[in-house]
Amino acid sequence: MKDQAENLRIRVLQSSAQKHAKTLAVVSGKGGVGKSNFSLNFSILLSKKGKRVLLFDMDIGMGNINILLGNITQRTIVDFFQKEVSIQEVITKVSDNMSIICGGTGLSTFFTMSETDFERFVNEFSKIQNEYDYIIFDLGAGISKESSDFLKCVDEIVTITTPEPTSIMDAYSMIKYLHFLNEQLPVYIVCNRVQRNNQGRDTIIRLQNTVNRFLEKEIISLGSLPDSRVVLKAVTAQTPFTILNPKADISAALDQLTTSYLSNSFNEEKPVTKKSFLDKLQNFFIGR
Ligand SMILES: Nc1ncnc2c1ncn2[C@@H]1O[C@H](COP(=O)(O)OP(=O)(O)OP(=O)(O)O)[C@@H](O)[C@H]1O
Ligand SMILES: [Mg+2]
Repeated sequence: MKDQAENLRIRVLQSSAQKHAKTLAVVSGKGGVGKSNFSLNFSILLSKKGKRVLLFDMDIGMGNINILLGNITQRTIVDFFQKEVSIQEVITKVSDNMSIICGGTGLSTFFTMSETDFERFVNEFSKIQNEYDYIIFDLGAGISKESSDFLKCVDEIVTITTPEPTSIMDAYSMIKYLHFLNEQLPVYIVCNRVQRNNQGRDTIIRLQNTVNRFLEKEIISLGSLPDSRVVLKAVTAQTPFTILNPKADISAALDQLTTSYLSNSFNEEKPVTKKSFLDKLQNFFIGR
């Protein structure tokens, strides 16, 4: 175990000396609020703006990024663990700047892997993390002990809510849980499925005020996305909405949101000295 940990530390130190991708987890308290559609289309727009993006579907068992893209690949992260193929072999290129890792089925969860699998994952991941500007993790709804260890390690969190009171309440519980895990973790908020003017802004302000009052934490608004029939059409056509209808209201709103995300002060280039996602992940591995 000591040798294993030492090897891992060396590997992570080597990779930390280089510029690494910014890691971002897309989460929600309540299910079905639009995380996967957001993650996919946000990744597409980031890549169209010249960023190199890897979208990692972590909702294993229920993963649907591949379905939303029209089942473009057979490769999944499950092959990485069960067939022991390299990480490169489970990455599918979607366009010049964008690649995906699909969730697949056959593993109950990504987060309860053995120590050997975990070491292999960190080793392999360190080889690819410099090839991207952003690595976006699309997670399932809610949080577990295992996924919370993982969430502590990412650079930023994007929480998706809708204007429904139940969704807002669950988003608050999620943010509270994340805050107790790591107070420093930057949390962005997106309000999806907005039906009227100011509904998104009002929802976000209410959530910001509550978080500020009870947790003394600032959460950053990324903006709102409208409730749109284009989403259902896109899901049915298995084509991302920003590609099916780039001029639709929701595509334009997400484009604006992506531009504002890229210009946010939190989003400045990460100094090389700052602890990387893998630095933090290996601490959990060693500490488990
Ligand atoms: N902006 C929107 N307008 C209209 N419908 C939407 C919108 N966003 C999501 N939906 C609907 O909600 C469904 C679920 O979306 P999605 O799969 O992205 O949610 P999710 O949060 O990833 O779900 P899960 O928690 O199961 O992973 C979509 O298939 C679509 O029908
Ligand atoms: Mg999903």
